[in-house]
Amino acid sequence: MQPDSMQHTPGRAIVVAHPLVRDRLTRLRDAAAGQGEFRRLLAEIGLLLAARALDDLPLDAIQVTTPIGPARGEVLAEPLPCVVSILRAGNGLLDGFRQLLPEAPVGMIGMARDEKTLEARRYYCKLPAGIAERLVIVVDPMLATGHSAAAALDVLKEAGAQRLRLISVLAAPEGIAELQARHPDVPIYTAAIDERLDQRGYIVPGLGDAGDRLYGTVE
Ligand code: URA
Repeated sequence: MQPDSMQHTPGRAIVVAHPLVRDRLTRLRDAAAGQGEFRRLLAEIGLLLAARALDDLPLDAIQVTTPIGPARGEVLAEPLPCVVSILRAGNGLLDGFRQLLPEAPVGMIGMARDEKTLEARRYYCKLPAGIAERLVIVVDPMLATGHSAAAALDVLKEAGAQRLRLISVLAAPEGIAELQARHPDVPIYTAAIDERLDQRGYIVPGLGDAGDRLYGTVE
């Protein structure tokens, strides 16, 4: 496990070990958490991980006037980062990110997993303007085989993205290795690195199917 003091190092998996993240993650893993609870916890983890992944955003100095007098301060520099959600479970993390940065543009990439080969196939893609100039935060709660995330990063780089960061709730060693091999420039922010994948490509112990738990669907 990498310490959270790690800076935004390309290719590294940074475990965000904040007590609030650890508390929410444990409750999220619990099979007894219902759909509403799961959605709320996932959004809260999204917010906390996003705050960590964005902690070096550039600022512009400005002056404002308080009720007492002038004060120097800073505001986020333009262009704002954008966020790209990998459908459909990524939208659970998106909720938290958007609470922090409601003005940030949002893209979506739909990736379906072939259950036999576990390879990712793109079925939808809509990206924000100016992606080449923005920091691009990709959200995907489960970094399992890493195939969907790596394929989404391929799509984003083809579209011109140059500075990318990936946020996931749980990462398997296999997924981290895949991403480090295919996209060594992209740091990964995660709440925990789990043991392994099972034969179906699920993270062990994981939290089950994030999309199904978020939307109340069945496999
Ligand atoms: N996707 C999920 O939702 N869960 C896993 O464990 C792996 C991939």
